[in-house]
Amino acid sequence: MTATIISGKQVSEEIRRGITEEVTQLKEQGVVPGLAVVLVGEDPASQVYVRNKEKACHDLGFYSEVHRLSADTSEEELLALVDRLNRQMSINGILVQLPLPGHIDEKKVINAISVDKDVDGFHPINVGNLVIGDDSLLPCTPAGVIELIKRTGLEISGKHAVVIGRSNIVGKPVSLLLQRENATVTMCHSRTANMQELAKQADILVVAIGRANFIDASYIKEGAVVIDVGMNRLETGKLAGDVDFESAKEISGAITPVPGGVGPMTITMLMQNTLLSAKRAHG
Ligand code: GUN
Repeated sequence: MTATIISGKQVSEEIRRGITEEVTQLKEQGVVPGLAVVLVGEDPASQVYVRNKEKACHDLGFYSEVHRLSADTSEEELLALVDRLNRQMSINGILVQLPLPGHIDEKKVINAISVDKDVDGFHPINVGNLVIGDDSLLPCTPAGVIELIKRTGLEISGKHAVVIGRSNIVGKPVSLLLQRENATVTMCHSRTANMQELAKQADILVVAIGRANFIDASYIKEGAVVIDVGMNRLETGKLAGDVDFESAKEISGAITPVPGGVGPMTITMLMQNTLLSAKRAHG
């Protein structure tokens, strides 16, 4: 069997077309969704991510503000900026790019973002709402993972999903969202004794462990949907997922490539969250 390749790029473009249409309609009512991105310091990867978010705002007709602050910005100054953005009517979403410099308490900053403008879905209240199944802004990468699984046409309900990785930003929320879709979920992590045996039972396998090409065909059940959240830079400079794509595509039913799989979905879901937040603010 050779797998269907799930193009996150293509799905992302489809969703973006829908967002653009909604933005056009909102503008007729005088509403423009606005996103503020805050970058502290000069981390090269963060600079690229922030530029991509700025570009997405421009492409989709959102209002955007990017606050580039020096690495020695104090926690107090950053909190003052967040407070100002919380109260600014033209801003519907606030994203403080992580990681922050060591002298700033990340938790304190995340907690200071208005729950309604927390388009990353990182605020403890949004996390709590996700756990209890209440309406909340969903974290972007996990929401993108679910969207990609749905687009394969697979009915998630009743399936066995195995999530490898238990991070707060991917593994844990993905497992909660899969449960919400009525999957039976098994979580695996670095201390799991029989990972291969468990993974091989999965109808849906989501991998987010941060180890290049770790999961090969021997971990995959024939016909499974495999979602690779990994983004590892190899010594050669090439980007690799957590799944050994060449081996895995011979056995899985559908699989995401890296790059071009989950990656393009993250910013698109961020834009969708910002749009949702704008609609709620003017609802
Ligand atoms: N740094 C890397 N990924 C992310 C993300 O999704 N949100 C924020 N705020 N920072 C990040």
